Amino acid sequence: MNVRPASPDDAAELARIHAAMVGVDLTGPWRDRLAQYLRGQLGGDRLGAFVIDAPAGGLAACAIGVVHQGLPGPDHAGVFGQVQTVVTEQPFRRRGYGRAVTRALVEWLTRQGCTLVTLSASDDGAPLYASLGFTPNRRAMRLVGTPYHRA
Ligand SMILES: CC(C)(COP(=O)(O)OP(=O)(O)OC[C@H]1O[C@@H](n2cnc3c(N)ncnc32)[C@H](O)[C@@H]1OP(=O)(O)O)[C@@H](O)C(=O)NCCC(=O)NCCS
Repeated sequence: MNVRPASPDDAAELARIHAAMVGVDLTGPWRDRLAQYLRGQLGGDRLGAFVIDAPAGGLAACAIGVVHQGLPGPDHAGVFGQVQTVVTEQPFRRRGYGRAVTRALVEWLTRQGCTLVTLSASDDGAPLYASLGFTPNRRAMRLVGTPYHRA
């Protein structure tokens, strides 16, 4: 299994996989905005992605995360990582790919100075994250600004 950092050339495929994970508006303009954003950020120090190539082309698995600056807390320094996307394409599941790309991403976030890593777990992802040391935060909430609703 070869885990590699994603490059700007992976942006379109990462956007496709992320859109399929979210499961709505698969071809909407938001997906083009996402691909464009990824293309600009991949290879930098604010967004990291780790991937495993599928033998026939495209990606078998990926993990994408971003670095944020927050307020220092009692158990972290303020710089925190957010895991945004972890997906293993269906035919490649249960081979350790999800674990490998998530581990590589968390190590990268740590190298960027993150002393806290957050994510919102799906039912599929929760056992994997728990086995990597993540614990539940049941108070997580979100507010989506109306101009971006379904755009
Ligand atoms: C979650 C996901 C990325 C796991 O990918 P994967 O490559 O199959 O994961 P791994 O093979 O590395 O498995 C790691 C561990 O996760 C757990 N796990 C993975 N899939 C599981 C499942 N369907 N049910 C229960 N536990 C599961 C197991 O503990 C597994 O360890 P094991 O193989 O020793 O049993 C994959 O199921 C997926 O892409 N799901 C759809 C998208 C999604 O929900 N992503 C998470 C968003 S937060």
